[in-house]
Parts: sequence; C-alpha cells; structure tokens
Amino acid sequence: MSNLSVNYMGLTLKSPIIAASSGLTSQLDKVAAFEKAGVGAIVVKSLFEEQIVSEAEFLNSQSQAYPESADYLHHYLRDNSLEKYLQLIRDIKGTVSVPVIASINCYSMGEWVSFAKKIQEAGADGLELNIFSLPLYVFKKSDDIEKEYLGVVENVVKSLRIPVAVKIANNYTNLPGFVEGLKSRGAKAVVMFNRFFMPDIDIKKLRIIAADAFSSEAESLKELRWMGIVSALVKGIDLSASTGNHNGTAVIKQILAGATTVQMCTALYKKGPDAISNAIEDLHLFMDTQGFNSVADFCGKLNYDNIDHPDKFERVQFMKTFGGK
Ligand SMILES: Cc1cc2nc3c(=O)[nH]c(=O)nc-3n(C[C@H](O)[C@H](O)[C@H](O)COP(=O)(O)O)c2cc1C
Repeated sequence: MSNLSVNYMGLTLKSPIIAASSGLTSQLDKVAAFEKAGVGAIVVKSLFEEQIVSEAEFLNSQSQAYPESADYLHHYLRDNSLEKYLQLIRDIKGTVSVPVIASINCYSMGEWVSFAKKIQEAGADGLELNIFSLPLYVFKKSDDIEKEYLGVVENVVKSLRIPVAVKIANNYTNLPGFVEGLKSRGAKAVVMFNRFFMPDIDIKKLRIIAADAFSSEAESLKELRWMGIVSALVKGIDLSASTGNHNGTAVIKQILAGATTVQMCTALYKKGPDAISNAIEDLHLFMDTQGFNSVADFCGKLNYDNIDHPDKFERVQFMKTFGGK
C-alpha cells in the first residue's frame, strides 16, 4: 500500500491531511475521531488576542467600585484564559498521538511571545501563527504593515524551540516575496490561506449580516494557483493548503501543485471524520493507479517549475478564453 507519511515543518505526519483550527479541534472526542480516521496532525482552535482582552475589559467594567483591582484583574483573567488554553493543549496531547499544533491569532507585537513560550511548555509540537488585522490606514504603506507582521514572526521564532507556521491571507501585493520574508524570519511553513469572517447584506431588512462561515469547493482554486507558483519560487519552506478542500480530489490537486499538507475545516463540520477517511482512501487509490509510492513522489509535480507552460499559472485575465464571447 502507498505510503502517505509526510514531513511537515519538521514534524512527521502519518498523512498529509490536517484538521484545521476551529471549534472542532477544541473538543477531545472530535480530535480522537479525526485521529482514528487518519488525520496527520491537529491544529488546535486559536487563542485570540481579542478574546483575552475583551474578557478582561468586561470584568473590569463590573468592578468600577474597586478601580485599584482593575489592573490585577486584567492580568488575572489574561492568565486564566491562557491557562484554559494550556490545559486544552495538555488534554489534546493526552488524547491523540499525532502532532498537535497550537494556534495563536494576534495582530500586534506585545505579549504574544511569552504566551507562545507557555504553549511550547504545555507540550505543543508546533505553533501556527495567524497574524492579521484588517488595515484601514489611508496613509500607511503596505510595506510597513508587512514588516510589522514579519517582526512578530521573527520574535516568536527566536524564542521557541518548536517549529512555527504562519497562516496568511491571500491578498498580498507580491505573495511570493512575502512568503520569502516569512522563510527568512525562520517560519518553517506557510498556510495558504486563512478564510475570514465576511459581512453580507440583508436587502429586505437593510442590515449587515454574517455571510456563510463555511467555504465552497470552488474556493480551493484560489490557492491552487498560488500553491503552484510559491512552491516553485520559494524553496525550503513547507506549504499547507487551506480553504475549500472538501474531498480527496481537492487534496490530490493541492499536493500536485506543491502543498505538503492540506487542511480541512468545512468538510469536517459537514461530513465529520468520514471526510478524512474518504480522502485517504482516494489518495491511496490515486497513488496506486498512478504508480506513486510516496506523497513526495508527486508533491509539486504540476507546479510552476514542472509544467511545459508555466503561463497557465500566470494567466490572470480572461482575454484568450472569453475574448470572442
Ligand atoms: C467555525 C469556524 C471556526 C474557525 N476557527 C478558527 C480559528 O480559531 N483559528 C484559525 O486560524 N482559523 C479558524 N477557522 C478557519 C479555518 O481553520 C479554515 O482556515 C477556513 O475555514 C478555511 O478552510 P475550509 O474551507 O476547509 O473551511 C475557523 C473556521 C470556521 C468555519
């Protein structure tokens, strides 16, 4: 039988399918079921900077009568929230034997480095750093914002022994350049891409509502292009595909384009652990049919470097396809 094991950010995974960070990966019964289905690693639900800050602010507002306690409370709550997260890491480590990757979702320098160290001490095998805030500065240069992100990565990487992956948005002016920057700051992997909360409009009630939290399968094509290009242009960093990968076919395509691993979230919410076991079955079938013994045999086989017409990845305008229509 074909060998599905991969080396991702220095960790050995028994399969290239990862359970993406979500509410599901904070539940012990769920992560146990994902492991049974063959998942290669678990990315734990993120610890959010806002979550800690807002919890502290809420309780501060309850304690107006004792303003001197506010500062203490702020620190107490921050630590307690963190303590809960650290316990979750320990519990998940005690439940599964696959690598457990913690996740921090932050947008500023500050205290995250010390949080990251505690996560390492709790036994996480790796850390996925999800750094993004929606920039709304008319006069700030995008380069300055990217430098801030790179600075956060550099600081965290320097202070940890465990490998660091960075989960990024897909809207950078020059994505390969940004990934090269992450690599040079010591990131071992890049997760392409995060999928954000999106606003929608209810035209009957004339108000803003939340769009569907779950992805569609078509969305995976967005990262397929970048997987193909970045895997060819930026060597020496692992790439993990995220968004719209709901089944084995999507997983195979992302690996052919250059992904070392593929993360699933929506598919796990909609189909449960079967999404993993079915994708693994499809992977074995594909590899046996095509004569690939290992995932490395076909990883990047159809990336920008390895196809006859790399312009197929470069083409962004529809001129040729729809020119005559
Ligand atoms: C309910 C829900 C919760 C999520 N929570 C997190 C999170 O805590 N941290 C994170 O980095 N991504 C989070 N995500 C994003 C997913 O990890 C993933 O990147 C995104 O859903 C795209 O993958 P998919 O198409 O397989 O759903 C969440 C997504 C959903 C739907």
